[in-house]
Amino acid sequence: MQLKEADLKILENKMHPRVRLNAICPYFTMFPLTFPYRVLSNAKKGDTVYDPFCGRGTTNYAARLLGISSYGVDSNPVAYAIAQSKLISIKPKEVISLCQDILENIDPNDIPIGEFWKWAYNSDTLIEVCKIRSFLNSKKRLTKAEVVLRAIVLGVLHGPLMKEQSSYLSNQMPRTFSTKPDYSVKYWKERSLVPPKVDMLSLIKRKTHYIFNEQLPEKVAGKIILGDSRKVNGVFNEKFDWVITSPPYYGMSTYEQDQWLRNWFLGGSEKVDYSNKAQLKHWSEKAFVKDLSLVWKNAATNCKPGAKLVVRFGALPSKSDKTPSELLKDSLADCGWKLRTIHKAGKPVDSKRQSNQFKNSAGKYIEEIDAFAILNS
Ligand SMILES: C[S@@+](CC[C@H](N)C(=O)[O-])C[C@H]1O[C@@H](n2cnc3c(N)ncnc32)[C@H](O)[C@@H]1O
Repeated sequence: MQLKEADLKILENKMHPRVRLNAICPYFTMFPLTFPYRVLSNAKKGDTVYDPFCGRGTTNYAARLLGISSYGVDSNPVAYAIAQSKLISIKPKEVISLCQDILENIDPNDIPIGEFWKWAYNSDTLIEVCKIRSFLNSKKRLTKAEVVLRAIVLGVLHGPLMKEQSSYLSNQMPRTFSTKPDYSVKYWKERSLVPPKVDMLSLIKRKTHYIFNEQLPEKVAGKIILGDSRKVNGVFNEKFDWVITSPPYYGMSTYEQDQWLRNWFLGGSEKVDYSNKAQLKHWSEKAFVKDLSLVWKNAATNCKPGAKLVVRFGALPSKSDKTPSELLKDSLADCGWKLRTIHKAGKPVDSKRQSNQFKNSAGKYIEEIDAFAILNS
């Protein structure tokens, strides 16, 4: 397919009605939509794509824009919940009436107490958040409206205080990651920052109409799985033509603890969990390469012969003696994929790219690479 400059401009504008769903909730270290979109514009009709580290589902949304079926796996419940919403088409009124029903009829259980919660949320707002949390977490299987409501609340759960209309439920916090409780309380106290009283239903209404507008691309087939891509198996009902992904950069293993507040909303603990159980191992380069290699091997078993693998990767210079290219080459040895090219990804333009989150001591960005491999036939 011929790539049109005008289409790429739309993709770069997060506020464009066609791509607003992709920004439903920020996710630490997401890659830009243009990356998987450019790659997939070379796909043939009927091709399918898989992302074993799907994060917030950027590959899946790029596939949707191009009418391609897509699958994704992530071990972080926050990533899973956001990515699931990327595949959904729904009328706003279904989400809004679900929210209204929950706020009117559900008794919240487990309202957390303590300094953090007192400072983080207005008490009425916290009760409403807990009503939605209790309801969603009491269900074994969520409907489309429930998946969307969950993703929208995740997106507004924390963020900056606004002067006029509240767009976030919390006291001042970054949107991309949750600051730790002690740090947050100290920050709020020192600045006498008070949590806003938010009209939850109007915020959800506003967000749902904004995101689920008439210019969203048609729904495509696909599935997002909460799992460990080193061993996930037997869950896909087709073989893939493409794998497009960005593994955690070597040294970056805090995805779950950095999202602890969103994880709490999804039914997790009200304390920060530092165990990072299902994340790739980062304690040594050898352990990391071995784990990454398991992911490539596992992906190979789920792909058609001749399938293409496209990887964006980097490493924190402070943590690694090897370059990202060396680590990736090692991980791809003897696992069915033949490495064809590796080149530099270029300077990041988006502040949420992994390389922007971790500038080195000289203030320079981490070098990122794009690699291309083919599955042996
Ligand atoms: C760089 S992020 C991917 C970001 C994604 N490209 C996006 O745009 O949102 C890497 C992801 O790998 C996930 N991850 C780490 N270890 C994993 C594992 N063993 N199985 C599945 N996902 C894993 C992390 O939770 C994180 O979401």
